[in-house]
Amino acid sequence: MITLSKIVVVGSYVVDLAARTPHMPKPGETVLGGPFRMGPGGKGGNQAVAAVRLGAEVTMVTKVGKDLFGDEALHHFKIEGIHSGFINQVEDESTGAALIAVDDSGENMIIVSLGACGTITEEEVEKAEAAFREADIILLQLETSMAAIRTTINLAHKLSKPIILNPAPYQKISDELLAKVNYITPNETEAGLLTGKEVTDEDSARKAAQILLAKGINTVIITLGKQGCYLMQQGENAGKIIPGYQVQAVDTTGAGDAFNGGFAHFIAEGKPIEKACSLANAVAALSVTKNGTALAMPYLEEVKELWGT
Ligand code: ATP
Ligand code: RIB
Repeated sequence: MITLSKIVVVGSYVVDLAARTPHMPKPGETVLGGPFRMGPGGKGGNQAVAAVRLGAEVTMVTKVGKDLFGDEALHHFKIEGIHSGFINQVEDESTGAALIAVDDSGENMIIVSLGACGTITEEEVEKAEAAFREADIILLQLETSMAAIRTTINLAHKLSKPIILNPAPYQKISDELLAKVNYITPNETEAGLLTGKEVTDEDSARKAAQILLAKGINTVIITLGKQGCYLMQQGENAGKIIPGYQVQAVDTTGAGDAFNGGFAHFIAEGKPIEKACSLANAVAALSVTKNGTALAMPYLEEVKELWGT
């Protein structure tokens, strides 16, 4: 019998409003842009889609407004087959939105206005305790309220459920909470902000990873853009780079989300850590070949084809 990996994602849903631009505007400048796209986004929602499209059973915990975008969110999660019983739709907050600019090289700049998902309460997370109990892994980002982040880490820790923290976008988080995290997956900028050490290459990634491991986190994975990721675990003096895949990048927005959703699924499925990182690199590489975020996440067959299994 095939058992599904079971993942609970506690995170954001926002609607993405994205415009292509020949170059990023300077302060005060207006640029004539290219095509505009609107679609489902938010780091939590994107990671949930990445995992479900690989075959995971995913429960999403988030909050949206009772508005057009909130209705669209529920429809989106239903179409993707993501459990939405812990998505709270409320009257008094609006669904969040992200303003995204993507330049000709595929790089992006984002302002995210969290709206409802910035107000998730302790109680709203605690309601999902039964789903936490059933889960193989809990996947969390920093794109919600600190109450949601703190409650998720404490609940997962109480239930001895492994937790992956994707510390994006960066928010200050206490060492007490970090010590309860099993896997942390910053990009280079977030690793720099978390450790106070700039990360630019393998040597600086190792130094940042050592600082994070010293806080009590079991496994550090620093994503390195097209280079792949740097993996280092407790007890190791140095880590290693797990190489990325060469693809034609069209839009890198959501690459980190594809990596995290992919990594969560493959770890929950019981894959060895290096293989899970390599497969997550493949998921993320495929996602950057398409425009958009949640809807750019690849399916398992595409990943198998790229990975060669
Ligand atoms: P984003 O903010 O754009 O979502 P990020 O800054 O959080 O991304 P990155 O380290 O840039 O995270 O990328 C995450 C993962 O995506 C990398 O570890 C790598 O596997 C993959 N990736 C990113 N960019 C590329 C690329 N141009 N080609 C292939 N793979 C890529
Ligand atoms: O990681 C990409 C996501 O970050 C976008 O979908 C946008 O919603 C922002 O929150």
